[in-house]
Amino acid sequence: MQVEINSITVNDVAYKDVWYLREEVLRKPLGLSLKNEDLSRDVLNTIFTATINNKIIGCVFLQPITEKEIQLRAMAVYSNWQQHGIGKALVVAAEEYAKINGYNLIILHARKVAIGFYEKMGYMPYVNEFIEVGIPHFMMKKDLIKERLK
Ligand SMILES: CC(C)(COP(=O)(O)OP(=O)(O)OC[C@H]1O[C@@H](n2cnc3c(N)ncnc32)[C@H](O)[C@@H]1OP(=O)(O)O)[C@@H](O)C(=O)NCCC(=O)NCCS
Repeated sequence: MQVEINSITVNDVAYKDVWYLREEVLRKPLGLSLKNEDLSRDVLNTIFTATINNKIIGCVFLQPITEKEIQLRAMAVYSNWQQHGIGKALVVAAEEYAKINGYNLIILHARKVAIGFYEKMGYMPYVNEFIEVGIPHFMMKKDLIKERLK
């Protein structure tokens, strides 16, 4: 299985496939649609895609918050490809980008069901439960300075 990790922006033709992936994995199961959301902040994001046989099967977005802090969001892998290391490969690529570009901290809003995944990736919860897209989430973070010292 050859997985390719690439980075794109909203201007790339692949953004359409990423939109569809997010819709299928992150919104439809909740009875929601991206069509009802303002996606204008996507333009600020670096988008990482995982591709197998020319099909995008996973994505994650990085959105700068401050000069030193960046948010990981829109983490999704098609269900038939989950548990194959795709999510991990995307997070590793996003973290590499964050480090190279001088960010010290990655934050994210973790769905309760995904907390175990992020913990495996070295993230720590730091804000108690809150509701987003109608379901429980926790704020999680990873200190990249500590990572560099490891
Ligand atoms: C969460 C998600 C992105 C993980 O991607 P994935 O490709 O399945 O994860 P990986 O296969 O890279 O898993 C890496 C490790 O995390 C573990 N893991 C994966 N999902 C997990 C979960 N939900 N809870 C606990 N551990 C999990 C894997 O078992 C693996 O452990 P290992 O290294 O000991 O073998 C994917 O399941 C997904 O898209 N879920 C639906 C959407 C979603 O919840 N997105 C997150 C929104 S905050």
